[in-house]
Amino acid sequence: MANGRFITFEGVDGAGKTTQLEWARQFLEQRGQPLTVTREPGGTELGEALRNVLLNAKRPIHPETEALLMFAARREHIDEVILPALQRGDVVLCDRFTDATFAYQGGGSGVESEKLEALEKWVHADLQPDLTLYFDLPVEIARQRLSGEREADRFERESAEFFQRVRTAYLARARQNPRRINVVDASAAPAAIRKLVENILLSACQ
Ligand SMILES: Nc1ncnc2c1ncn2[C@@H]1O[C@H](COP(=O)(O)OP(=O)(O)OP(=O)(O)O)[C@@H](O)[C@H]1O
Ligand SMILES: [Mg+2]
Repeated sequence: MANGRFITFEGVDGAGKTTQLEWARQFLEQRGQPLTVTREPGGTELGEALRNVLLNAKRPIHPETEALLMFAARREHIDEVILPALQRGDVVLCDRFTDATFAYQGGGSGVESEKLEALEKWVHADLQPDLTLYFDLPVEIARQRLSGEREADRFERESAEFFQRVRTAYLARARQNPRRINVVDASAAPAAIRKLVENILLSACQ
């Protein structure tokens, strides 16, 4: 897979993923690293249409339907964006990936992990991120950060208990994948996290 690196950013809503991803983009760009920056759900025309459905639907969606739509968007995203970029040798920075489906649809909404594992195997048996930065944050702090931000989407309107289950599932996934998933204390100051992320990127992208 040439020298491409697939790096994902994970964490509950408000953990600081987008903030740190933008700094990571600037940092790697300044070093002349060819980059592809993308997000899930989304990243393709179909994926962005599915994102709109998933984030803004006015009626409840069955959690298994959510999981299937996430993986449908992901299938397209891998084929159209992620694999071609890795084959070119790009570093791919992706805001959320499959860990988020295990955390939200699995931990948050109770879809059995066996079902999600089957979908994961179907959609990307041979692909895993080379590195995942999981921004870990107590739920109360994440919610404080989001209050006053743009209007909340479907997921952001979920209860504190839901987000607690999401966080627990992320931490379980990090324990199961200790080499891939780097747990970052997201309660630190943004600049301190930035420095830490830069150091992690330096060792991952050389
Ligand atoms: N380390 C930090 N300390 C305090 N505030 C922060 C920190 N990192 C980000 N923020 C602020 O918290 C808010 C949420 O950050 P950001 O949008 O990066 O989170 P996110 O994980 O991408 O959230 P979402 O999942 O909703 O997209 C923003 O207002 C941002 O400026
Ligand atoms: Mg974000």
